[in-house]
Amino acid sequence: MSKNNDDIEIRNKSGNRPFHEIIQSQLSRRTVLAGGLAAASTGFFAGSVGATGVFGRHKRPLVDFTPVAVADGTGPVPAISPDYEYQVLIPWGTPLQPDGPAFSYPPNAADQAKQIGIGHDGMTFFPLKGKGHGRFGSGKDSNHGVLAINHEFGTTQHVLGKAQPESLDDVRTIQHAHGVSIVEIKESKGKWQTVKSKLSRRIHGNTPVKFSGPAAGHDALKNTAGNAPAGTLNNCANGQTPWGTYLTCEENFNGYFGTADTAWTPTAEQDRYGVSAGGFGYFWHLFDPRFDLANPAYANEINRFGWVVEIDPMDPKQTPVKRTALGRFKHEAAAVVEGRGGRVVVYMGDDEAFDYVYKFVSDDNWKSMMRRGRHPLDHGKLYVARFNDDGSGDWHELTIDNPALAARFASQAELLTYVRIAGDIVGATPMDRPEWATVAPSGDVYITLTNNSGRTTATPPNPVAPNPDGHIIKWRDSREHTGLTFKWEIFLIAQDTHGTEDSFSDPDGLWADPDGRLFIQTDGGQKDGLNNQMLVADPKTGDLRRLFTGVTLDEITGITTTSDRRTLFCNVQHPGNGNPAATNFPAPTDGVTVPRDATIAIRRKNGGIVGS
Ligand code: FEO
Ligand code: CA
Ligand code: CA
Repeated sequence: MSKNNDDIEIRNKSGNRPFHEIIQSQLSRRTVLAGGLAAASTGFFAGSVGATGVFGRHKRPLVDFTPVAVADGTGPVPAISPDYEYQVLIPWGTPLQPDGPAFSYPPNAADQAKQIGIGHDGMTFFPLKGKGHGRFGSGKDSNHGVLAINHEFGTTQHVLGKAQPESLDDVRTIQHAHGVSIVEIKESKGKWQTVKSKLSRRIHGNTPVKFSGPAAGHDALKNTAGNAPAGTLNNCANGQTPWGTYLTCEENFNGYFGTADTAWTPTAEQDRYGVSAGGFGYFWHLFDPRFDLANPAYANEINRFGWVVEIDPMDPKQTPVKRTALGRFKHEAAAVVEGRGGRVVVYMGDDEAFDYVYKFVSDDNWKSMMRRGRHPLDHGKLYVARFNDDGSGDWHELTIDNPALAARFASQAELLTYVRIAGDIVGATPMDRPEWATVAPSGDVYITLTNNSGRTTATPPNPVAPNPDGHIIKWRDSREHTGLTFKWEIFLIAQDTHGTEDSFSDPDGLWADPDGRLFIQTDGGQKDGLNNQMLVADPKTGDLRRLFTGVTLDEITGITTTSDRRTLFCNVQHPGNGNPAATNFPAPTDGVTVPRDATIAIRRKNGGIVGS
């Protein structure tokens, strides 16, 4: 989300490093880099480059397209590698059903609930009509599927063309533009389009939801108003489960709450989550009491947000489920992998300056848990990461069985609801805004640390201070992702690319494809005149190439492919920050000139795997 790209406000006042334990580092940033640079072929990859040489492991280079030159990645329209082509798909306001209400600007609440939302972000393509069972997903069809797509945010100015909502109907319109779209799409004669569907549906800020896991039904999630749980908000990135469901992650939920009551002050717990009277300027609380922090009837409404939510894209009647065992924080994404013994492991980042990296491990093999009626995301252990200076790391379980945590919380439910504080107590490592994680086929886990201008002291895992441009760290977990230890190293530091053709900043979206290519997407002020972008790396060789650049003042985010990987979908989010004077992308599609968030379908012109 661009809202807090340069957020240097410190929510973590725990005193964990870097505030008191920063001096005695054995490794300075210089030595970390020097160790990596000795082996890296392009001069900035700090990963382990094998003795196989540049192309040693592959008959052909893994990444072999002509990149977009820095000089071409600027301005109000996208640019793509000359070896590739793209199509704009489902811009904000597109009717979910082909015969649904057409977009008009500004939208109204009723129409918006039947249209694609705004703020396109994380997404997963679920194929339809295929046979067999892939590693993930239930089908193999590559020209027909259901796209589950997050709608992270849309400012009042962008959605409504005015600075503040003036009625409850205005608030409803913006709430309906948030959430998730499930939309059936099909490719015909080289063009993707929506099709009439029983599966397509919208889940938005007022859709009924339910809670599951240890915090479900707990007093911390109840209001005296007695209102049923509803809505998902600030749906940033995503994950997918081996059983074919979609995970949508609630990030900056605090921004939607506020109050006009000048006597209101945040609780210690609310302060740790950045809750403030002004919020992010949405002013929903003026018309919708659910979002008024000072309304005692809705005192715990805010605790109902900040979770990972499971959606079944193949069951339009399913009620989305907030899985509380995964903890409540500013969830960026959920990278799911099958660990030892078929346990489900979920790697997650909490995107705030000086916040933490988490891991959830299910109690048992997910298939046998399902057979026994125990949901694998409801029963398991949640851990937080400590990155030690010597390159080792430890996972600390966040459990009420820990006396230090039992001294602070009355129950596991309360601990999970305020899990940031539990992380503070066990001494988790404050990181430079953890965003997406991904698990490579090698077993390496990567996570983007997008930036942290507020960092004053470099530490080995966060070696740049201040760090306005971000870095990527990688680690290898023990016991096939289920162990309590790991070994980590810096993969790359964005500022080291500046002034070169590899230039990028603010890594955010991240995906390791089944061949080991690493796709990197950016969200923030790029250097060298560039727009935000998507690059593809070969981690073994250090080869990094720019596949796509967006438009003025946007963000590139969201990544998923068809099963054959011949189509890749990504998103142009908040083009021009909603300002038509900056860009009217993707007009003219239907006469609307306000810039509209949109999905981009990317193909290689020669029909090859995207990224090759
Ligand atoms: Fe929604 Fe942290 O990006
Ligand atoms: Ca971001
Ligand atoms: Ca993001």
